[in-house]
Amino acid sequence: MHRNLPVPTIYNTDAAFDWLYPERIQLLSRRHWTPLGVARKAAHFLSHGGNRKILDIGSGVGKFCLVGAIYYPDSTFYGVEQRQELYHHALAAKKVIKVENAVFIHGNFTKLDLDEYDNFYFYNSFFENLDKGDRIDHEIEYSSSLYVYYSRYLYRALENRPSGTRLVTFHSLGDEVPSSYQLVDASEDFLYKSYIKR
Ligand SMILES: C[S@@+](CC[C@H](N)C(=O)[O-])C[C@H]1O[C@@H](n2cnc3c(N)ncnc32)[C@H](O)[C@@H]1O
Repeated sequence: MHRNLPVPTIYNTDAAFDWLYPERIQLLSRRHWTPLGVARKAAHFLSHGGNRKILDIGSGVGKFCLVGAIYYPDSTFYGVEQRQELYHHALAAKKVIKVENAVFIHGNFTKLDLDEYDNFYFYNSFFENLDKGDRIDHEIEYSSSLYVYYSRYLYRALENRPSGTRLVTFHSLGDEVPSSYQLVDASEDFLYKSYIKR
């Protein structure tokens, strides 16, 4: 079991948490990084039973993973992120928070073996390929065919997971969620959804 330090109250609000990052990253928070309350709720659901390996597909600056790691120290939160700059911000924030159970990987999620993880978190990471406004940066190639490719890739990987696999999506269009995943909870606005594979 991991032993993290007690949860510092300094990280109890989004604004306080976002101070871990430089100003440019803070300004992206409202649109691109998971709000604290959503991260806690998702982490609670995904760490169910304890000792889970949870993967955030497109982990950005690591907000979901770090919040999960703080509150659920007996699970391990992995984040895979394609942008090197964001990956480095996640590592830097981890160093400040001093959690052991958050692991960041730089690369495309298609390079990972998704079978190595128990449960998954997904904050509509591929939508940047469709949405021309408010992009994180202009450093990578965007295309609607990439959206389709990534969504289908994830769909197939999720389809192959054993029964009982848990998934949380936030702001997702649902294209990556196989019908074998049963919706078990959703927020009133339907932006947050949690599923368990039948
Ligand atoms: C909406 S942000 C969410 C960040 C983080 N999950 C959070 O909740 O705070 C989506 C992230 O997914 C990353 N991403 C998009 N496609 C990806 C891919 N194919 N492989 C890895 N990361 C990807 C983007 O670079 C971006 O940082």
